[in-house]
Amino acid sequence: MAEPNDDREVLTTRQGHPVSNNQFTRTVGPRGPATLENYQFLEKISHFDRERIPERVVHARGKVAFGYFEATGTWGDTPIAELTRAKLFSEKGKRTDVAIRFSTVIGGRDSSEVNRDPRGFAVKFYTEDGNWDLVGNNLGVFFIRDAIKFPDVIHALKPDPVTFHQEPARIFDFMSQTPESMHMLVNLFSPRGIPASYRHQQGFGVNTYRWVNAEGVTHLVKYHWIPKAGVQSLTEEDAAAIQAHEVGHASMDLHTAIDRGDYPEWDLLVQVMTDEEHPELGFDPLDDTKVWPENEFPPKKVGTMVLNRNVSNHHTENEQIAFGTGVLVDGLEFSDDKMLVGRTFSYSDTQRYRVGPNYLQLPVNAPKAPVRTNQRDGEMAYYVDSGGESPHINYEPSLDGGLREARDPSYELDVGPELRGRLTRSQLPITNDYEQAGQRFQLMEDWEKDDLVKNFVDNIGQASRGVQERMVWHFFMCDDELGRRVGDGLGITADDVRDLGPLASQQLSEAELERARNLG
Ligand code: HEM
Repeated sequence: MAEPNDDREVLTTRQGHPVSNNQFTRTVGPRGPATLENYQFLEKISHFDRERIPERVVHARGKVAFGYFEATGTWGDTPIAELTRAKLFSEKGKRTDVAIRFSTVIGGRDSSEVNRDPRGFAVKFYTEDGNWDLVGNNLGVFFIRDAIKFPDVIHALKPDPVTFHQEPARIFDFMSQTPESMHMLVNLFSPRGIPASYRHQQGFGVNTYRWVNAEGVTHLVKYHWIPKAGVQSLTEEDAAAIQAHEVGHASMDLHTAIDRGDYPEWDLLVQVMTDEEHPELGFDPLDDTKVWPENEFPPKKVGTMVLNRNVSNHHTENEQIAFGTGVLVDGLEFSDDKMLVGRTFSYSDTQRYRVGPNYLQLPVNAPKAPVRTNQRDGEMAYYVDSGGESPHINYEPSLDGGLREARDPSYELDVGPELRGRLTRSQLPITNDYEQAGQRFQLMEDWEKDDLVKNFVDNIGQASRGVQERMVWHFFMCDDELGRRVGDGLGITADDVRDLGPLASQQLSEAELERARNLG
């Protein structure tokens, strides 16, 4: 009950009625029964019943922060305009507001942040040309290269549908039949699979995109975020020690660092490749299970991101923020990467379901550039984004008013190489699923190799014998030392698995077939 000299604002209902008693429901007499016309109580409780929106089907646990991106105006020493006309990169010192959401992938909204799991790294740039979302992860590659497999890989990684317990046996059952996952697995089961915090991890666009310059010339690009704080990881033991008393350490680490003015920063570096097929590379540049060798395609800096503001509310700015790979601005383009195309449909589709059809009207999602559309109505339409002109004309073209198309000729340029091909369902012509996984293993320090082998043995050891043998076969195909050491841990030798031969679905190169024949 309010004290006489309390000058705080008065509590109201959503209809603006002052609430004079928020302690007791309205009843007939002090002992009940309660009455049904009790509007204040019914509104309060029924809104509470609807407080949660569905959590994200993946990346449910996350943390948003805000800041800015400052461009260098160059790609290394090259003027950026030679490569992209995107305005946010155009001038040295140009700043663009950003929102970032870090996340884990598999666990639910309140799950542990020390789980072995890729970390999401999704950045929204509120540019003058509208929003650009760069939706990536911390490991640089992914488990699969075709979007049609995404529901399967996620089902294998999520808890068992009966026990609701994450099962390594299910994960490795799927992975053993998915050779393109080897590169991702070698990263995920190494210490990099548990970043020490969100501030101490890299980010990558993972998929290949295009840059377009003012003449319409395109290049293929890959994005890298490098943390100024350095990269730090946790072993299983470190992670267990944290989890014993805290499941949200990464979110709190980020939040408290920003609160005390210790603003985290990442440089954005870009790898560039000519926009054509590259048979000489031995891998396909549109394959998101591959990295581009840095000696041939040096990542060069294009700007820096600084995070200097926390959310003011977790629900409105974290649960309702929506990123998508289709959200590009002029000068940035898709590539034909098949995963990217599938992702681009999935994000806005799930957000229309998860947040609602007008999710782009919410402040955290709305661009800072003007929005004028003829899209109308739907659940929770908050305003009419007609631009204030001709409220009667919600169609285009019209002689009587309404909105017109942009006249900027740059939007009309045809871009990219001409495409030709038969309709098909096929692998990329070059798969090369083992070479980079083996190279990654050999680049690890000894303690990282030890940790990786131990994690593989512990987890794959829970799978059926057939799955264990197939995984050891794949690891021998990646690298002899990796195959031998995981095999030793599981009691499986090269002789035990040589006769397995390739999976029926695999089309190995001559060199890979030769390796399979002489395994170990
Ligand atoms: C979130 C689909 C691959 C990074 C999501 C969501 C879906 C999805 C449905 C939930 C979005 C939401 O509820 O707002 C897919 C599909 C993929 C795919 C269909 C493959 C075909 C990837 C890859 C990466 C990635 C390869 C990393 C490069 C993320 C991130 C989020 C996310 C960071 C969280 C965004 C946020 O913080 O709100 N994905 N994804 N996804 N995905 Fe993917």
